[in-house]
Amino acid sequence: MTGNHNPYLPELATVIKVIDETPNIKSFQVVFNDAEKMKNFTFEPGQVGQLSVFGVGESTFVINSPPTRMDYLQFSVMKAGEVTTALHGIYEGDVIGVRAPLGNWFPYDFMKGKNILFIGGGIGLAPLRTLILYMLDNRADYKDITIIYGSRTPPDLCYKDELKEWEERPDVNLILTVDNEFPGWEKRTGFVPTVLREEAPKPDNTIAITCGPPIMIKFVLEGLADLKFPEENIITTLEARMKCGIGLCGRCNLGHKYICKDGPVFSLKQLKELPSDE
Ligand SMILES: Cc1cc2nc3c(=O)[nH]c(=O)nc-3n(C[C@H](O)[C@H](O)[C@H](O)COP(=O)(O)OP(=O)(O)OC[C@H]3O[C@@H](n4cnc5c(N)ncnc54)[C@H](O)[C@@H]3O)c2cc1C
Ligand code: FES
Repeated sequence: MTGNHNPYLPELATVIKVIDETPNIKSFQVVFNDAEKMKNFTFEPGQVGQLSVFGVGESTFVINSPPTRMDYLQFSVMKAGEVTTALHGIYEGDVIGVRAPLGNWFPYDFMKGKNILFIGGGIGLAPLRTLILYMLDNRADYKDITIIYGSRTPPDLCYKDELKEWEERPDVNLILTVDNEFPGWEKRTGFVPTVLREEAPKPDNTIAITCGPPIMIKFVLEGLADLKFPEENIITTLEARMKCGIGLCGRCNLGHKYICKDGPVFSLKQLKELPSDE
């Protein structure tokens, strides 16, 4: 197939690997069927794609592999409803549709020379993963990297092999937590926002990037405010329902912004400048 011009038409892609991350999250490594498209494909950390299961529908997922590793694109999918359940029925060798890259990305140039604090919960580590790997592949450009990551239970932690690698790296400070005590778990327990307050990272020359369930984000933002992080140094990525993904249908608006086009990545300062829905 040659390149198409209809922005609604997905590109065909083959799933080359499926990884069971947690009881309800799978990762899919995909390559475009068109080798030329795969070779020339570029994207920025934080951009998303629309994945389609033919005959079922299309949903939005962040490309969570970094642009510094282009053998395949990786998407992680938490089972939530129709499309995500259909994706969980996809096997290696199956063909899906991909429309990507869409949306904006993490301002990684602005973050150069700064300390980076990642705060993630559950599947919220997916968008952070692309930036973490990007930064590890450009390690000299960034100062201290701290990652606070939590999930409900240990089996619910994503990317377990990578977590082990990051834990062993002297240039990464990884703090893992699960909500409650769990047999065999000897690390931290407690909700992510509580661990953030216990750790009390200093805001000086530090950018905080957070993604997770809305309730976690709410309390993380409060925690960061109490720790005196400036709003322009707090970055989050939003998950609103999308349809077209290209700023045409009006499905994803937030004030006068479209999350699919102007986002999904926003600083807290930008979010506060948007008019509320009332
Ligand atoms: C920018 C962006 C990036 C995303 N990245 C990822 C990712 O990397 N991995 C991942 O697993 N998911 C991600 N999501 C969420 C994902 O798009 C939804 O879970 C998915 O669309 C659900 O589709 P479905 O057809 O299975 O569910 P549906 O059948 O449409 O809905 C099932 C249930 O989930 C609720 N729901 C569906 N989508 C959302 C949503 N976006 N927010 C809140 N509730 C929702 C519905 O209200 C319903 O209760 C992202 C969303 C956005 C907008
Ligand atoms: S999803 Fe259509 S305008 Fe954003």
